[in-house]
Amino acid sequence: MLQRLFDLTGQVALITGASRGFGLEFAKLFAEAGALMVINGRHPETLSTAADVVRKHGLVETAVFDVSDSAAVEATIAAIEKTHGKLDILVNNAGINIRKPLEDVTLDDWRAVLEVDLTAAFALSRAAALGMAKRGYGRIINIGSVLSIKGRASIPAYTAAKHGLLGLTKSFAAELGHAGVTCNAIAPGYFETEINRELLDRPEFVQFINERTPLRRWGKPEELAGAALFLASPAASYVNGHLLVVDGGMTTTI
Ligand SMILES: NC(=O)c1ccc[n+]([C@@H]2O[C@H](COP(=O)([O-])OP(=O)(O)OC[C@H]3O[C@@H](n4cnc5c(N)ncnc54)[C@H](OP(=O)(O)O)[C@@H]3O)[C@@H](O)[C@H]2O)c1
Repeated sequence: MLQRLFDLTGQVALITGASRGFGLEFAKLFAEAGALMVINGRHPETLSTAADVVRKHGLVETAVFDVSDSAAVEATIAAIEKTHGKLDILVNNAGINIRKPLEDVTLDDWRAVLEVDLTAAFALSRAAALGMAKRGYGRIINIGSVLSIKGRASIPAYTAAKHGLLGLTKSFAAELGHAGVTCNAIAPGYFETEINRELLDRPEFVQFINERTPLRRWGKPEELAGAALFLASPAASYVNGHLLVVDGGMTTTI
């Protein structure tokens, strides 16, 4: 029973932004749970190195494309469905952030972040959901942020995109539930990954987060993987439209 609840044997999963960080941790765990992994990133060499890591845990293929390239998105989903006959799980994880004081933020900055963090998730989800709904089964998991529910200075586009991703999650949950497709989101707090490199290099900011977080530390990327596996697995069969916050308790305090 316990094993069956978290078993992904025979399932096909696409994880965007899986060359490092959260995406790579998700891919390792999903592969170990039995899924055939299709991992995505923009750079063939780093993605190939990541695939070598995932292969130690199970089956893996690579799909090199930029998630903001809508033609590549459509082509990739179609190719997965043609090769494997289905796509069961999509994790919209690829993300970028641009941190600047408001006066320095350009419209190009705004558009770049919205494109990768929100519009691409919509394009991927829609392309994947159409087939999932026809087959009567699917799981879509969006990697939001505590910035899906809170605001913070100097990251207006990221905050707007991550709030939007929560709205997208609820919209897809409402529209696709009847077809056996669930859509949920995860809201990570502050974790030690490359997207936070410039924050991690500032000891006073590291300390600020430690003090704001009841667990008194940053998260490690592998500490998010169990939450993603839960939402992808039979254990979450009746969970839909949910935001699973994994932040060491940060957003529960004032
Ligand atoms: N770390 C945190 O504390 C935290 C907190 C809340 C939310 N998140 C979210 O978690 C997700 C994963 O971030 P992370 O922390 O693991 O950061 P990361 O280590 O910087 O990983 C980001 C991944 O996205 C890929 N990527 C970026 N732009 C892409 C694009 N246009 N097309 C395809 N792939 C792209 C990168 O690969 P390439 O550069 O090789 O393409 C990389 O694999 C993001 O959505 C982020 O917003 C992170």
